[in-house]
Amino acid sequence: MKIAVIGCGYLGAVHAAAMASLGYDTLGVDVDEAKIERLRRGEPPFFEPGLPELLQQGVGAGTLRFTTDVSEVVGSDVIFIAVGTPQRAGSDAADLTYVDAAVESLLPHIGEGTLVAGKSTVPVGTAQRLAERIAPTGAALAWNPEFLREGFAVEDTLAPDRLVYGVADRDDASVARLDAVYAPILERGTDRLVVNFATAELVKVSANAFLATKISFINAMAELSETVGADVTQLADAIGLDARIGRRFLNAGLGFGGGCLPKDIRAFQARAAELGHGETLGFLREVDQINLRRRDRMVTLIDRELARLGGDRVAMLGLAFKPNSDDVRDSPALDVCRRLQEGGRVVRAFDPEAAETAGRAMPTLDIAGSIDEAIRDADVIALGTEWQQFRELDPSEVATRTGARVVIDGRNALDAKRWAAAGFTVIGLGRPEMAPAA
Ligand code: UDX
Repeated sequence: MKIAVIGCGYLGAVHAAAMASLGYDTLGVDVDEAKIERLRRGEPPFFEPGLPELLQQGVGAGTLRFTTDVSEVVGSDVIFIAVGTPQRAGSDAADLTYVDAAVESLLPHIGEGTLVAGKSTVPVGTAQRLAERIAPTGAALAWNPEFLREGFAVEDTLAPDRLVYGVADRDDASVARLDAVYAPILERGTDRLVVNFATAELVKVSANAFLATKISFINAMAELSETVGADVTQLADAIGLDARIGRRFLNAGLGFGGGCLPKDIRAFQARAAELGHGETLGFLREVDQINLRRRDRMVTLIDRELARLGGDRVAMLGLAFKPNSDDVRDSPALDVCRRLQEGGRVVRAFDPEAAETAGRAMPTLDIAGSIDEAIRDADVIALGTEWQQFRELDPSEVATRTGARVVIDGRNALDAKRWAAAGFTVIGLGRPEMAPAA
């Protein structure tokens, strides 16, 4: 089996490495020469646990190759499309430029017997349109959405919760081809659903919309909790014990960011409006608003504490949109830094992996090389991303390294009692403030 993957970003690079690890002759294609150069050396262009090992294995064995020349896909049995679908500038809709360009670039190199399998997240209706574009070549199209989470991308690709194949009516050949590709995964009993194009496209965006809604639901409860003196983390524990609700994705805090959830819920609404169903997904506007209000709240809390203390220096721990990633796309933590800085505050940040990406996204940000360096002169310590190393900080140690005695936990990830016992005022999002032990 010969596999090609178009697009070597967070999705494509992992998918290509995973395909090679299943024993397939795999080719990764990207227009970015620098990215391809790194991948050829077996170096991932971004931080993702488990990926370096997989890349080195594939590149070393010669089963995983990378190129910028799309004509090398000739002879592939399956060509996956894994390019980005970012938010279009000046609009909520998805920008399909890269998907369209990928398909156009393939047309001269595909034919009878080739399966093009889309993995990118696209607005419903895209697969049908692309299938018609590809049809004259004799190649087939399937839509095979990807549900991987950054930080767990390798695991999610090789051991997914389910596989979804969107295929044209009676296209058994494409189903059989995908079954062959995923045979090692299917053999473990992984669920596989065969649906039509529209369903496959909707499965992906509705899954993300549901997850975003779940996070904003608990963040709405956090907003109320702040007013009435309730503790949203205890509330989440209590409602999460109802198996119908479940505790996962009920962590209140700074909310969701990243390259997927924010732009996907916006693109989903935009597509629904185009289809005459603007109201159907009107609630996603609220989901988005609740999410963004949490960042406002964080900035307000930090400002309030700085005003009270007569200081202006903030140590921000965490910049990535979530732990185990160096991705700062629409990162709540970075957004808070930007707004504090715009408000004249002096921000010094630290992130174990995202220093480089954050530095590129916000060149004016002062990024420290260590936690100690970030907190040394701070008036207030803020937690923006719940990296394990921040959770494990010993607050009495921290107290010896900084003059700050206020910690604002934007992820409700710190052990508030321990921090209070070590002399800190602990302020969470949606939780009663905890005063320092006397
Ligand atoms: C998401 C989907 O989970 C994945 O299935 C899809 O394929 C792509 O989008 P990802 O963007 O990698 O994956 O991150 P995810 O783990 O879903 O977290 C998204 C954001 O929500 C992060 O900013 C995270 O901090 C936040 N989050 C998550 C919360 O604020 N609370 C939670 O309880 C869970």
